[in-house]
Amino acid sequence: MQHQKILVLDFGGQYNQLIARRVRDLGVYCDLKPCDMTAEAIEKYAPIGIIFTGGPNSVYDENAPHIDKTVFSLGIPVLGICYGAQLIAHTLGGRVEHAEESEYGKKEVTFFKNSPISEKIPIRSVCWMSHTDLVTALPDGFEALAATESCPVTAFGNLQKKVYGVQFHPEVVHTEYGNQLLENFLYLVCGAKGDWTMKNFVEEQVARLKEKLGGKKVLCAMSGGVDSAVAATLVHRAAGKNLTCVFVDHGLHRKNEPEEVVSVFRDGLGMNLVKADAQERFLSALAGVSDPEKKRKIIGAEFIKVFEEEAKKIGAVDFLVQGTIYPDVIESGKGKSAVIKSHHNVGGLPSVVDFKEIVEPLRDLFKDEVRRVGTELGLADEIVWRQPCPGPALAIRIMGEVTREKLQTLRDADAIFREEIARAGLTRDVWQYFAVITDSKTVGVQGDFRTYENVIALRAVTSVDAMTADWARIPYDVLERISTRITNEVKHVNRVVYDITSKPPATIEWE
Ligand code: XMP
Repeated sequence: MQHQKILVLDFGGQYNQLIARRVRDLGVYCDLKPCDMTAEAIEKYAPIGIIFTGGPNSVYDENAPHIDKTVFSLGIPVLGICYGAQLIAHTLGGRVEHAEESEYGKKEVTFFKNSPISEKIPIRSVCWMSHTDLVTALPDGFEALAATESCPVTAFGNLQKKVYGVQFHPEVVHTEYGNQLLENFLYLVCGAKGDWTMKNFVEEQVARLKEKLGGKKVLCAMSGGVDSAVAATLVHRAAGKNLTCVFVDHGLHRKNEPEEVVSVFRDGLGMNLVKADAQERFLSALAGVSDPEKKRKIIGAEFIKVFEEEAKKIGAVDFLVQGTIYPDVIESGKGKSAVIKSHHNVGGLPSVVDFKEIVEPLRDLFKDEVRRVGTELGLADEIVWRQPCPGPALAIRIMGEVTREKLQTLRDADAIFREEIARAGLTRDVWQYFAVITDSKTVGVQGDFRTYENVIALRAVTSVDAMTADWARIPYDVLERISTRITNEVKHVNRVVYDITSKPPATIEWE
């Protein structure tokens, strides 16, 4: 089945992936593509509507990205957001001017004219603005639909041609009726049917995979993270016992993680799961190493070696499964590839496995969709809502040398932290949270005795995409409980500190 599609043209704004996610959340598939896509390519792609995103430029900048005017003659509805709106006005003969002062933040917007995009939106509401340029004259056939105090053309449209522009950002939560506006554009202007659901996705993907993999051998590296777990489960539906999953137990996982992987996937789902016990190998390779980059390299290389050995035992396979997700494959509006995180734990595998083709069943999905697919496949919340864990796992949360003792201390402290966050009902509010064992010891007093023990740091952040992050405002009483429990229950810890640094300037992980 071919889904209806929305095309989001990326002009380089910071909220662009958010626009695509909102559209999909509203039940319409969409792709984010670089803004230099030609009118011909757009016509071939055949979207039911196009969204021009915001961007950092002014339409008059020398290198500002433009749009081929013929895009407007394709008969496809268009919604321009911020820079995208200015571009519509500029391209079709209106005027865009530089305001003396930038308008930034929450503003009251008044919709003074009815149109399909303003259905169910009150006359007055709050919107989120972030701009310097503004539209001061509209092209022929267009009319103003809304205004703020300092921006007389905050929304405009050519109702007949189904082309609209909004100066504010409907995709951010601070725009009260932003989601309604996007829904209006999709359903009332573009005629969306809402055929993008995770249930449909699973059914179609399983059918497609069955056809593709039919009876052939498939291999998957399972890291314990959400993406590989969901990818493996999806492929397992289609390939059954022809799928072999390899889980490398490098001894650097969080408390009980390897046991959970075995119990869920081998015992629960009946998957062909090989657990490679390589704890000793990793620990000896890491002995005496303190430098974070060296640790990462050693772990990455060792992982590949262990996997290669296991793959040799399995022999040649037809397919290798990778848990690549959509943000990894999006190209940004400026023509450069988006930053791709080094998922080194799977990145080097293709070179050591004897296979014919890579299968990436989650390639089209955003992270939140991967989670929804996981739930649709019947995976428990503990797996689906597992927070991201870096490939090198606890090794980069142990400052200095990785030792068995430090691993034990960190695991116990981290488990308490996670338990208490869950008990406080904060698991979905905090994006990522973990304990770090610092390389310092401090003096304490426990039971009338002087102690000289480890300092545990707690790190908890809120984030959208890990590119930036803020430290999470965890309530003091929750922090107090965590600190008391860690110092009482975990051996060799006499002090707990909370990291109050955002990213930038810090990173989320300590190493
Ligand atoms: P930083 O520390 O760079 O982390 O702010 C951003 C996000 O990436 C995760 N991370 C990694 N993931 N391999 C991975 O697969 C790695 O080497 C790695 N290092 C950091 C980190 O947990 C956070 O979610």
